[in-house]
Amino acid sequence: MIVTHAMRLFLGHQLGPFEFKKDIGYLPNYNVPNLGLYVHIPFCNDLCPFCPYYKIKLSPDYFKPYLKALIAEIALVAKKVVLPGKKRKATSLYFGGGSPALMIDELSTIRKIIDNYFIVEGNAGVELHPRDITIDTAMKLENAGFDMVSIGVQSFNGALLKNLGRDDLDFNSTFKHLNRGNFQAIDIDLIFGIPGQSENDLRTDFLKAVEAGATQISTYPFIDFSYADNRKKPQGRIAQKKLLSTLLKTADESGFVRTSVWTFGKKNAPKYSSITRDCFLGFGPSATSLGLDSFKANTFSVDAYIETANKHIVPTSLRMQFTTRTRKLYWLFWNCYKGYLSEKDYKELFSSELNKDFSFWLRLGKVAGLFNREEQGWALTELGSYKFHWVEQEYTHQYIDKTWKTAMDNPWPEKISLY
Ligand SMILES: C[S@@+](CC[C@H](N)C(=O)[O-])C[C@H]1O[C@@H](n2cnc3c(N)ncnc32)[C@H](O)[C@@H]1O
Ligand code: SF4
Repeated sequence: MIVTHAMRLFLGHQLGPFEFKKDIGYLPNYNVPNLGLYVHIPFCNDLCPFCPYYKIKLSPDYFKPYLKALIAEIALVAKKVVLPGKKRKATSLYFGGGSPALMIDELSTIRKIIDNYFIVEGNAGVELHPRDITIDTAMKLENAGFDMVSIGVQSFNGALLKNLGRDDLDFNSTFKHLNRGNFQAIDIDLIFGIPGQSENDLRTDFLKAVEAGATQISTYPFIDFSYADNRKKPQGRIAQKKLLSTLLKTADESGFVRTSVWTFGKKNAPKYSSITRDCFLGFGPSATSLGLDSFKANTFSVDAYIETANKHIVPTSLRMQFTTRTRKLYWLFWNCYKGYLSEKDYKELFSSELNKDFSFWLRLGKVAGLFNREEQGWALTELGSYKFHWVEQEYTHQYIDKTWKTAMDNPWPEKISLY
């Protein structure tokens, strides 16, 4: 709580809480240089007890109405953000969930609809549950134009998966199917701090991910969301610190470099990252969008989403209006997560100088050993990344947990105050 208070007050110059307010149909200002796209597929075969994301248990009855609503939302938004008769450039396209592969036969249709309005110049990625990966899925994904995949392995160790509340899986064929394809990036998600996980278990998981052909390994600290159903709780601070240093050592000996606070990548491999865009447009229930002036979230209910999109209303439920300063703070926060603050990107987005706007804090961060000054920006040091690892967890507990829980309890909350 102290961390988020301090960030809001001292860096954001904001006395009161950040507030989400109900604003059905709202769209931010997308007059921005770069725009990423995201599509949420909110269905899963089984609901993992640790998972905080908005999803419901698979019911094929939903596919048709969901597809129709998604197409309606994309068309409605495109009408506002794409010039008539033209296509707008997008820097990337990600499909997440939920488990997008459950709608594998619909993904190419959605992709085509997006291509009617946008030219996706960067990579196109999709999140996959390892159980859903078959040769057929891999081929269909490639044919639909996806060139990146992210697989939620969590752990290769059956006992640790069980501690997370997930069934053991046979991973033997999973990666063969993918390695046959032409994916430019294969991201493997691991969780660390799982109850019972030793440093050696984590090292083994990392090495297995390398062996499986990962070009990127995302390592998330196990977070116990207030509304999750975790029977066993994450390991404490001291254990996490040791596990983090195991990750750094194992990544280094495997030839992987840190590409953000929680990701490691092979040199020159494209990065898989759906959240670290400066501005993005999200489609589907619970999808968020970030514009120049505000942040918005769609309703966290498939039923409310379908009903609203069918009435030709953008299914936004919540809007957070930024001040100029808090928008810059938001940029600073996510770029710290990426590990690098680019002065050029900042200037392009805000027409203002990073070194002027945050002069005191950057110099203080340098003195404290959190940043190194580079030619065109500021890079987080290892100590900076370590500190940010805790700040990010605090932000998740204080802001994301509260927002998502409230939005899952009520499709149209009046207000959410974040302190
Ligand atoms: C949208 S989720 C899962 C995607 C896919 N459906 C799957 O199951 O593999 C994306 C990633 O978030 C991470 N994650 C989910 N819940 C988490 C938690 N409670 N703590 C830390 N990481 C978590 C997992 O690594 C997961 O793969
Ligand atoms: S971890 Fe993946 S499969 Fe499990 S509930 Fe979350 S989105 Fe669904």
